[in-house]
Amino acid sequence: MRLKHRPWGDTFIEEHPELIITKDRVENSNFNEFISRDPLELEIGIGRGDFILQKSLNNPAINYLGVEKAFMAAAISGKKVIDYKLNNLLIVSMDINYLFDKLKNESLNNIYLNFSDPWPKKRQHKRRLTYPTILEQYYSLLKMGGRIYFKTDNDDLFADSINYFNSSKFKVESIDYDYNLQDGDCLTEYEQKFRLQGVKIKRLVAIKE
Ligand SMILES: C[S@@+](CC[C@H](N)C(=O)[O-])C[C@H]1O[C@@H](n2cnc3c(N)ncnc32)[C@H](O)[C@@H]1O
Repeated sequence: MRLKHRPWGDTFIEEHPELIITKDRVENSNFNEFISRDPLELEIGIGRGDFILQKSLNNPAINYLGVEKAFMAAAISGKKVIDYKLNNLLIVSMDINYLFDKLKNESLNNIYLNFSDPWPKKRQHKRRLTYPTILEQYYSLLKMGGRIYFKTDNDDLFADSINYFNSSKFKVESIDYDYNLQDGDCLTEYEQKFRLQGVKIKRLVAIKE
């Protein structure tokens, strides 16, 4: 998500170490306490934060870690959620690849990948958030019975991701090429936009078992 850098973003993140974790805050913050909580769910690439905010509000007994590598997107999400004073939501302003050795194995109940960047060129595929090497990391971090919920508008990313999951240790539980919303679903900004445009939303659910 490309967003213009704004000075308020620096100030906001600087003033809210309790809500937004940056690389230099990993050790001296509530990060380690938060990632030890149970149950714990992870969204990677939270964008502007609508999905994780709704999840946190709807499920106060579940803890949500929202990771976003784009600095201004993390700041915009933080600004959106700050007034709710949620005890069960923490935003991490980092690339997920930096976090893999910081999160604990078998600590996550679910992982959400919503409208991840498609990285269409072959040489870019390894950056995809469903690429086989990254699926191995998710497999280690998830508890038995933990699931990955992956949604996208992108046909090529979806087709390739089905192959990635089918070649992984995960069991694919469901594949939808035109996912109908169900009660309790939370929508991201991209999903809201695509549904208004009539774009079919693809969804795959995979389980560690
Ligand atoms: C296309 S946007 C979708 C945003 C949001 N999930 C939505 O559906 O509205 C993808 C987001 O994932 C973030 N992202 C991509 N790769 C990431 C990574 N390796 N670690 C953390 N965030 C990542 C991008 O910065 C961007 O904000």
